[in-house]
Amino acid sequence: MNEQSRRPRRQGKPYRRPKKDPVRILAFEALRAVDERDAYANLVLPPLLRKAREKDGFDARDAALATELVYGTLRRQGTYDAVVAECVDRPLREVDPPVLDVLSLGAHQLLGTRIPPHAAVSATVELARVVLGDGRAKFVNAVLRKIAQHDLDGWLERVAPPYDEDPEDHLAVVHSHPRWVVSALWDSLGGGRAGIEDLLEADNERPEVTLVARPGRTTADELLDGLGEDAALPGRWSPYAVRLSEGGEPGALDAVREGRAGVQDEGSQLVALALADAPLDGPDRAWLDGCAGPGGKAALLAGLAAERGAVLLASEKQPHRAGLVARALDGNPGPYQVIAADGTRPPWRPGTFDRVLMDVPCTGLGALRRRPEARWRRRPEDLEGFAPLQRALLRTALDSVRVGGVVGYATCSPHLAETRAVVDDVLKQYGGSAELLDARPLLPDVPALGEGPDVQLWPHLHGTDAMYLALIRRTS
Ligand SMILES: C[S@@+](CC[C@H](N)C(=O)[O-])C[C@H]1O[C@@H](n2cnc3c(N)ncnc32)[C@H](O)[C@@H]1O
Repeated sequence: MNEQSRRPRRQGKPYRRPKKDPVRILAFEALRAVDERDAYANLVLPPLLRKAREKDGFDARDAALATELVYGTLRRQGTYDAVVAECVDRPLREVDPPVLDVLSLGAHQLLGTRIPPHAAVSATVELARVVLGDGRAKFVNAVLRKIAQHDLDGWLERVAPPYDEDPEDHLAVVHSHPRWVVSALWDSLGGGRAGIEDLLEADNERPEVTLVARPGRTTADELLDGLGEDAALPGRWSPYAVRLSEGGEPGALDAVREGRAGVQDEGSQLVALALADAPLDGPDRAWLDGCAGPGGKAALLAGLAAERGAVLLASEKQPHRAGLVARALDGNPGPYQVIAADGTRPPWRPGTFDRVLMDVPCTGLGALRRRPEARWRRRPEDLEGFAPLQRALLRTALDSVRVGGVVGYATCSPHLAETRAVVDDVLKQYGGSAELLDARPLLPDVPALGEGPDVQLWPHLHGTDAMYLALIRRTS
């Protein structure tokens, strides 16, 4: 007789092994990596999905659900934290991070998806049993049952301060952005409640995947013909853009694999196109991209330069990113050069170039749609770190361009400290020897570009990342 058969059976439900749900386990692993290792969801997820396809037989629907669970949970983290905080009996910082991740995943399924509440609770409790153990799964069960008592609107009424009392805090909780980010975006956008709400909501939407047809290598029409009507639409503003329909996999396209096309937001395309089209007096032979990595804008500029008989020098400080630029430019129809160089100590002679792009490192607050975790990682202090570098790089750009030549200063952040403040400060140092050009006519048909002369694009108005562009001409 073995030990087991001698032990009296305990009363109650027999023990049941937890059900393993590979989609939710994968989503949990991705959230842990983001939380624990400061990993980026868009880098962590693809290899996990690849492995799951091979090992667990994930199909497209499984992958789509896992992606939605991870991105949605990270984007709405601020709202879900406020809801979970109402449902636990201790401060959130005292809840174990893995438990908090499971609770957020559960909150997202309950409040941010169409998954029926009973299924959302039971699937999350099963996940908790697998990854946290039965004891903590009971806690998860109790918290999720409380969350399930209200829908998202019901919770927002309870946890968000009234708009009239504290507009920024209200918007921060309702639209899941840190308060300082709400403030900064609102400062830059201006206007009333409707505009900022639309912007914050647009940040919570999954962006379309947009391709760029690289000039001289393919065209938007060719890409559209190859993809078919159901799979893609032309760009809204850029003649080189093609928008993939939902679920479109750019990596599966020959044109992308062969480098004839790339994945590039239309806002980035507009920045490169506006610089390339800015009016110049005199020669138009030498172009510089001074912060080129990973090479999206450089590849478009190099193609445009080739069409005009100009040559692009693409320079990037980080050698491995310079390698990515070289890969993006490989196959360009005209001559170009890629170098690894610090733009604050440039190896080229002053006044060498006719057109210069300085797409400087920044907080990336304009690309929150793409990087769901970025808004929680960034701190206001980061701005101080970027400020001297952004100014130094713009000075290099102005020193590098010849008199009569044009500089494009770009950021993928609309924060005024990274956009106008940098341009204003540096222009002051240049006295009368550099002037702003009106960039708006160089973005033809693009509406709502403000009062100029610089332009700020917005996700909710243009469907692009919030790219900023100032065009500056050297006058003496
Ligand atoms: C916003 S990204 C540029 C994106 C690029 N234009 C594109 O479209 O793919 C800024 C780049 O500047 C690089 N960088 C940072 N400091 C630099 C410096 N001192 N000199 C040159 N490049 C620098 C970063 O490594 C990063 O690749």
